[in-house]
Amino acid sequence: MSTYCFILGKHPELSIAELRCRYPNADVRRGGDSFALLDSEMDIDQTEFNHLGGCIKVARVRSESNIGDQIQILADVLSSHYQDSKLDYGLSVYSFSEKQLRPILMKLKKKLRADGIKSRFINKDFRNISAAQYKSIKGKGVEIVIAKTNKAFLIGEVVGVQDIDGYSKRDFDKPFRDMNMGMLPPKLAQILINLTGVDGKVWDPFCGSGTLVMEGLLMGRDMIGSDIDSGRVEGAKKNVEWLKNSFELRAVSYELFAHDATKPIDQNYDAIAFEGDLGLPHNVHIQLEKLDQIEAELDELYSRFFQKIKQMKFKGPIVAALPFFRLRNGQERTMESTVKKINELGFKQDSLTPGSSVPLKYSRENQAVGRAIYRFRLS
Ligand SMILES: C[S@@+](CC[C@H](N)C(=O)[O-])C[C@H]1O[C@@H](n2cnc3c(N)ncnc32)[C@H](O)[C@@H]1O
Repeated sequence: MSTYCFILGKHPELSIAELRCRYPNADVRRGGDSFALLDSEMDIDQTEFNHLGGCIKVARVRSESNIGDQIQILADVLSSHYQDSKLDYGLSVYSFSEKQLRPILMKLKKKLRADGIKSRFINKDFRNISAAQYKSIKGKGVEIVIAKTNKAFLIGEVVGVQDIDGYSKRDFDKPFRDMNMGMLPPKLAQILINLTGVDGKVWDPFCGSGTLVMEGLLMGRDMIGSDIDSGRVEGAKKNVEWLKNSFELRAVSYELFAHDATKPIDQNYDAIAFEGDLGLPHNVHIQLEKLDQIEAELDELYSRFFQKIKQMKFKGPIVAALPFFRLRNGQERTMESTVKKINELGFKQDSLTPGSSVPLKYSRENQAVGRAIYRFRLS
């Protein structure tokens, strides 16, 4: 059994919910404001970490210390990696000030020199290590994390870091992109899939350019994607073909076809996950007088979609990213009345955060339209 320290992304509650859903048998708990802890029998390495969208890095905890023992423990961990040639290492601190890095790194340097270990730290300006820096020492060096809980300092060795190059390649290099409809960031597509909490085949009924289908395939899942717009379905097919040539995929199957999500579908699947119609591109200013109309149309679309799912008697998890609107006065409007209708149809809303029924939100500060994430199940 190992304890892992996951450094959370920009939406920490969402990251924790993702961890809980992907590792339902592990004890996932908040360790500090920027990290979560998880005890697991399973080996979490870079390959496993690549299937998570919500965390920045993961470290296997090697030791717990109080402040006085830190340098000795850090030196012990680093010396276990030392093989006569120069050892490159980096150090990152979480839930306490990065200003502490300078004195720790200086003392550690002295200690390692005294122990006869030739080493070099790669921290730039005594700041935490970035994903790009980690990549530069991967295989020949090591990154250590110190994370402060309310009881102690945890010292861990980084075993996985967000694959920023892979995300950006999938986001920007795919052949079919359509900025008018808004596309899911690949990380969020991974989160939605993990939030289903099941391992099997996933259907995205509003697949657009196919982001969720692509990420599902990379995660080793069989996928179905459909969209009312046949042009987008053709685009999604091109994207998946490109993915197959550009990334290593396990032998998985997929189907992509044009389909109106408010009509029945004759397929088998274990979960539904989607980012549906958002009503507006992310970057436009919302005109209040038009918002009622947009919400009414979306309400109609989602009500009809859930009615059909009910008719099809699908009892599995449905993870839905529905739009929420940020008004110029800072107020946020979620699709509460639509969600109420979905509940009244008999779909129970799962609590993705224990004790809370509010949706988990994903948005960028400057965007007028964000995503509010729910998980429903027909009761
Ligand atoms: C925000 S986009 C989804 C984008 C997608 N997640 C991606 O990453 O490319 C919403 C999609 O819903 C589709 N859509 C709207 N109404 C639909 C309906 N009744 N049935 C199926 N798809 C629909 C649109 O054509 C559009 O592609």
